[in-house]
Amino acid sequence: MTARVAILISGSGSNMVALADSMAGDHPARPCLVVSNVPGAGGLAKARDRGIPTATVDHRDFKNDREGFERKMISALEAHAPDILCLAGFMRILTPGFVDRYAERMLNIHPSLLPKYPGLDTHARALAAGDAEAGCSVHAVTADLDSGPILGQARVPVRPDDSAETLAARVQEQEHRLYPMVLRRFAAGDRTPIFLP
Ligand code: GRF
Repeated sequence: MTARVAILISGSGSNMVALADSMAGDHPARPCLVVSNVPGAGGLAKARDRGIPTATVDHRDFKNDREGFERKMISALEAHAPDILCLAGFMRILTPGFVDRYAERMLNIHPSLLPKYPGLDTHARALAAGDAEAGCSVHAVTADLDSGPILGQARVPVRPDDSAETLAARVQEQEHRLYPMVLRRFAAGDRTPIFLP
């Protein structure tokens, strides 16, 4: 059975593109929806170009009503009956109720070698700490921010002249490699983590 994958974005959607383009041929999954909390997010046009249905649920319409926002997200999602949710640069914190609903079915990509640097500004923090390497992690989403079981990690060297931007670009190349590899394995029912050097 082919798994249906919904991808949640807030921005340019480069990880969404890497995931969507990987789901072809004998891949066990196909994209069913790209949903954004940001109207006009760059990734929405890229999804439409690929013939993937899109939806927008603007979180600013739900001030102080996170559950109302999530109810709307859930109805947008359920209209496309996803089996798996991939967070790909989705910049909203989800309530335990939402996470529970999609428990064991929701993945996230985070731009650090978790458990190091959950949250924001990961590259600046790695540079400030003088780390010799950085990277990205794909993990199952649990109610605690950026701390579910690791399903894959990729490492890159930190160079002496790196800025947060140059390091982010080097890490993103690996994000685009790692996330599709993990999704393919996950959609086939295999939770064994993937560690790229
Ligand atoms: C990625 O670096 C991802 O790790 C982080 O947000 C960024 C999203 O970029 N969570 P894009 O929208 O996939 O280009």
